[in-house]
Amino acid sequence: MINAKQTIGEIAVRQPSTIEVFEQLGIQYCCHGEDTVEAICKYLGLPAKGVLSELNRVADANSTTKAPWADPILEALMGKLLRARSVLIQQDLPRIQRLARTVSSCHLREHPNAIHVAHLSATLANEVTSHFTDEAQILFPKIRELELAYVGSRSATVHLDSVRNDLAHMTQEHGAVGDLLSRIQEDTEDYNATGTTCPSYRGMCEKLKGLDGEIRQQVHLENNVLFDRALQISGALYG
Ligand SMILES: [Fe+2]
Repeated sequence: MINAKQTIGEIAVRQPSTIEVFEQLGIQYCCHGEDTVEAICKYLGLPAKGVLSELNRVADANSTTKAPWADPILEALMGKLLRARSVLIQQDLPRIQRLARTVSSCHLREHPNAIHVAHLSATLANEVTSHFTDEAQILFPKIRELELAYVGSRSATVHLDSVRNDLAHMTQEHGAVGDLLSRIQEDTEDYNATGTTCPSYRGMCEKLKGLDGEIRQQVHLENNVLFDRALQISGALYG
C-alpha cells in the first residue's frame, strides 16, 4: 500500500504503472524523485488523499506488472542506458535539429516560436551529448568497479568522495536538461501540431515528444535507481 511518506522516485521504481498518474498530474518523478507524496501534493496544491487513492488504485490494478529495476544489476542497467543513448545521439537529436532549422527558415510566419525551439533544441543536443559522454567515460566505469567490488570479485580503488561528487554533479545536470525539455514543451504547447500545414513542424513535435519521454525515463532510472543504488553500495563498502 502506497503511503504519503514514500518518495515519488521509490513509488515509480516499485510500481512503474504509477508513472502514468504522475505524468497526468504534472508530478516530476524523474528530476525530483526525492520528494514525498505529502510534500509534492502540498507544493502543487493537490489533495494528498485523492492522489494516494489514485496511485493505489493503479498499483492494485497492475499488481502483476514486473518492477524490473526494483532490485537492479547495475551493469545491466548501464548497458540498457548506453544502448538507448546511441540512438538518441546519432539519430534522434540530429533529426530534430534538422527539422527545427527547416521550420524556422521556411514556416516562421505560421510558427513564430520555431527559432526559439531551434535554439533550445541545439542547446539540448549539446548538453545531452556532453552529459552522456561524461557518464559513459567517467561515472559508469566507477559504478562498474564499485559493483564488482561489492559482489566480491576485486577490491575497489574508486574514492568515495569522487563518486559522491560525480553523482551530485550529474544529478544537477539532469535538472538542467529537464528544465530545457520543459521550456521546449511550453514553446510547442505540449508538442501540439494540430492544425499545422507544415509537415516538418509535425515531424519535429512528434520526435520531440518521443525524445522528452525517453530522456525523462533515463533520468528516472539514473536518479532513482542507478545513483541511489551506487550510493548504497558505496556506503556498504566504505562504511
Ligand atoms: Fe544522466
